[in-house]
Amino acid sequence: MKQPKIFIIDLGSQYTLLIRRTIGELGYRSVVIPAKKAENWLKINDPEAIVLSGGSASVYEKNAPIVPRAVFEKDVSILGICYGMQYMAHHLGGEVTPHQGNKEYGKAKVYVDTNDLLFSGITEENTVWASHGDSVTKMPLGFQQIAYSKDTSAIQAMCNTKKKMWGLQFHPEVTHSVRGKEIIANFLQNIADCKKDWEPKDAIEEIQEEIKKITVGKKCIIGFSGGVDSTTLSAIASPVFGRNLLAVLIDTGALRHEEIREIRDNAIAANVTLKVVRAAKRFQKALGNATDAEIKRKRFKKMYGRILEEEAKKFGADFIIQGSLATDIIESGKVGEAVLIKSHHNVGLNLNVKELHPFRNIFKYEVRDLARAIGLPKSIVERQPFPGPGLFIRVRGAAPKPDKLKILKWADHEITMILKKHKIYEKISQLVVGLNCTRAVGIKGDARVYGYVAEVRGVKTSDFMTAEGFHFSEEVEDEICDAVTKHPKIVHVAFYPTNKPPATTEFE
Ligand code: XMP
Repeated sequence: MKQPKIFIIDLGSQYTLLIRRTIGELGYRSVVIPAKKAENWLKINDPEAIVLSGGSASVYEKNAPIVPRAVFEKDVSILGICYGMQYMAHHLGGEVTPHQGNKEYGKAKVYVDTNDLLFSGITEENTVWASHGDSVTKMPLGFQQIAYSKDTSAIQAMCNTKKKMWGLQFHPEVTHSVRGKEIIANFLQNIADCKKDWEPKDAIEEIQEEIKKITVGKKCIIGFSGGVDSTTLSAIASPVFGRNLLAVLIDTGALRHEEIREIRDNAIAANVTLKVVRAAKRFQKALGNATDAEIKRKRFKKMYGRILEEEAKKFGADFIIQGSLATDIIESGKVGEAVLIKSHHNVGLNLNVKELHPFRNIFKYEVRDLARAIGLPKSIVERQPFPGPGLFIRVRGAAPKPDKLKILKWADHEITMILKKHKIYEKISQLVVGLNCTRAVGIKGDARVYGYVAEVRGVKTSDFMTAEGFHFSEEVEDEICDAVTKHPKIVHVAFYPTNKPPATTEFE
């Protein structure tokens, strides 16, 4: 395997792997290194470019991530992003101060010096994504300002061409930074002179090589949900294992209408043998009366892990392979210094069987590229994600007992059909239908009744790290309201077009 020439030093940002993804999309191989390990890496590697990620800390905090001194002493092009730029300024004698007023968060306008190599070919005025509490207020000696904002005097970008150092206060790796990808391309091409060395089909071979090296002739099971991640991973792993691979679908009782049939078809497309383990009763017992989504996830995860272990034992498997993505791992707080957002059920199961997560560094968007490259059908390539704990985490304000799951399953199906009829289902990245079971008042048959709220949310995104809430038309909203309130227990319908952040995709 070719060694990456681009190092991303992780300083604790939620977006660190988005930097790697953008670099990959541009055709370059890169590697993410935790700040603590960077010094050793630099001793044995010779990068062409270093990117210092953002991070949630302030450079003045006691335990703030540290960039090894060696980074700044090396003759290499460096791009510091957000905290990375603040660290650069602070370390080299500039000044970093807390942002005046609230944290600067969300879309912002900046004006850039288009004569600088970093901004060549882009417009002077740019919409970018900002997310920071501190900012650089005085640059170190030898640096010049190359971007500013009309709303704040903070330095938006700086550079010292002699030292080959550039800093950006905003996040070019986030898709909301409209020209962000071009800025990163400029850094790699015009400044660091990196050569393109990566395309999606390389990743398939690399993953197969990695799996082969670790598992050498051993048996393996894969947690199979029929989603794009586990189906693609199965299709990639199947030629490595042959009959030594068994796909296991755990029917938790929280799957959607007729979903098992679709999952069986996807296993055939991925060329794996599928075993369906019926476990609805065990999950009901495990979840008990939990109403809090994180408690539900923890209990779900325990039972899910136990059943996988049992199945691995029955099959004589030494390994369990999982399709967990970078998003799951980041949001479970498992990458570098990233903070916990949601504890995804398939991360850190701590099983007695060895676990493999070959997709741990990639995003949904990239899995879809791999699915396409390996020849899976469009229905799988474009399949909307569905959380492992399924409808359990979409019954809200009450324990997810079978009666509530049945109502939600019905409502989800009705809404899905309406969106498919209007050709909207394909336009959104994910549909989330929830059942809010806190008592809502309605009128049915001229009488005041208490019932539930069907909650409807569509999002558009490619990586699920950030997402835009989808606005349905009045006609579609009316049709959904009419259809689902036919259920005697549903009295209200609510639509949630909030972006992520501040919301998440799921309601909980
Ligand atoms: P959030 O709600 O964090 O979701 O914006 C991002 C993506 O992850 C899915 N999701 C989960 N998937 N186990 C999973 O396998 C989970 O516990 C879980 N929670 C959220 C969510 O549906 C969305 O696609």
